[in-house]
Amino acid sequence: MAIISPSILSADFVNLERDIHMCKAAGAPWIHVDVMDGIFVPNITIGIPVVAALRKITDLVLDVHLMIDRPIRYVEQFCAAGADYLTVHLESDTPENIAKTLTAIRAHGVKAGLSIKPGTPARQVEPYLSLCDLVLVMTVEPGFGGQRFMADMMPKLVWLKEACSLANPACLLQVDGGVDLDTAPLCKAAGADVLVSGSAFFKAEDKQSFVSRLQK
Ligand code: DX5
Ligand code: ZN
Repeated sequence: MAIISPSILSADFVNLERDIHMCKAAGAPWIHVDVMDGIFVPNITIGIPVVAALRKITDLVLDVHLMIDRPIRYVEQFCAAGADYLTVHLESDTPENIAKTLTAIRAHGVKAGLSIKPGTPARQVEPYLSLCDLVLVMTVEPGFGGQRFMADMMPKLVWLKEACSLANPACLLQVDGGVDLDTAPLCKAAGADVLVSGSAFFKAEDKQSFVSRLQK
């Protein structure tokens, strides 16, 4: 069964606590938190204080997706704020610093994730696999919710599943962007373990049924 991680980018920020509890009531085990800095991506969202606030009100797994430039500068603060998974982008720093960043995340006792944008080939992840607890394949250009799913990213998942089975079988594969009831089966067939869903989750009338159908 896939793990469902609703993205609060599509939540009602005025009623964030209510929406987090709604995710739990729907049966979602994780919460996906999109952090954007207006530099790595052309949008600005939320940051460290919001992660810390969420930690106080939920025991769901906090899956924090950093879309920020040179994330190594903020690893300590996001870990202290209570992230369970901290995912950084391969394109956000030099190869040497990406390895240092993943190592630093794990040194704080937090699970380390590495994400790639649609234009980045899967094989670029391979040198880092032993440092990762999660690999995130973006199926939209990072920056905004509600975009169209890019089905042509599925071969990357298939390739990464095989690479992980050799280098790091415990590593989870995550998909983010345009995941809904129509596209989730493609992701699962390609080997995804964790599905992020923003707009489709928050639009669903019956969230419990949405989660159970998505995870099947
Ligand atoms: C996009 C974010 C996604 C986004 C997904 O940059 O990383 O997590 O919230 O939203 P949907 O599911 O609407 O594509
Ligand atoms: Zn995300």
